[in-house]
Amino acid sequence: AKGDPAKGKQIVDTVCAACHGADGNSVAAANPSLAGQNPQYLYSQLKAFKSGERKNPTMFGMSAGLSDDDMRNLAAYFSQQKPKEREAADKQQMPLGAKIYRVGNASTHVPACMSCHGPAGKGLPDQFPRLGSQHAGYVAKQLADFKAGTDRKNTIMADIASRMTDAEMKAVSEYISGL
Ligand code: HEM
Ligand code: HEM
Repeated sequence: AKGDPAKGKQIVDTVCAACHGADGNSVAAANPSLAGQNPQYLYSQLKAFKSGERKNPTMFGMSAGLSDDDMRNLAAYFSQQKPKEREAADKQQMPLGAKIYRVGNASTHVPACMSCHGPAGKGLPDQFPRLGSQHAGYVAKQLADFKAGTDRKNTIMADIASRMTDAEMKAVSEYISGL
C-alpha cells in the first residue's frame, strides 16, 4: 500500500528535518539526503533500523516509535522531494571514480555500480537505491559498513565492498556525490 506524503511531512517537520532537511536534502555529510530516494528502499531501511538489523543508535531511537503506516508515509514524502544537485568536491578522484562506477574493476571482479544503481545514479525500481548527489562521506561509510558486515548486512553489497580497495571506495564516493 502507498503512503500519504502529507502525513509523512508532519513527522518530518517535527522530528527528521533537523538531520535530513525539511525537503530531504541534508547539510551534514554524516546524515544522508533522502530526497528522491526510492520509496520501497526507504521503507525497508526504516524497518531494518527498528528491528536492529541495520545498526545505528540514532536511527534505532528515531524509528522506535514509528508505526508501519508512519514508515510508508515518510517514504512517500521523502521519495517525492527533489534531490539537490551537487558538484564533487575532490575532482582528482573523478577518473578512478568514474571507472569504478561505470565499468568496475575486472581484475578484482568489482562490477559496474551503474548496473544496479543506474547510469545517472537514480537507482532502479524496488530495492536498488538512488546514489546520485549523496554526500561522499556518507557513501564511503556505507561501503566500509557493508565490508565490515556488523552494522549493515547485505549479501550483494558486502561481496562488492570486500573486493574494493580504500582508494577505490574513496574515489567512487566522490564520483557519486557529483552524479
Ligand atoms: C539514516 C530516515 C531522523 C540521523 C537514515 C535513513 C533513513 C532515515 C531512511 C537511511 C538512508 C539510506 O539508507 O540512504 C529518518 C526519518 C527520521 C530520521 C524518517 C524521522 C523520523 C533522524 C534524526 C537524525 C538522523 C533526527 C539525527 C539526530 C541519521 C543518520 C543516518 C540516518 C546519522 C545514517 C546512519 C548510517 O550511517 O548508517 N535516516 N531519519 N535521522 N539518519 Fe535518519
Ligand atoms: C546499496 C554503493 C554496486 C545493489 C548501496 C549503498 C551504496 C552502494 C553506498 C547504500 C545506499 C544508501 O545507504 O543510501 C555501490 C557501489 C557499487 C555498487 C559504489 C559499485 C562499486 C552494486 C551492484 C548491485 C548493487 C552491482 C547489484 C548487483 C545494491 C542494493 C543495495 C545497495 C540491493 C541496497 C542494500 C540494502 O538494502 O541495504 N550500494 N553499489 N550495488 N546496492 Fe550498491
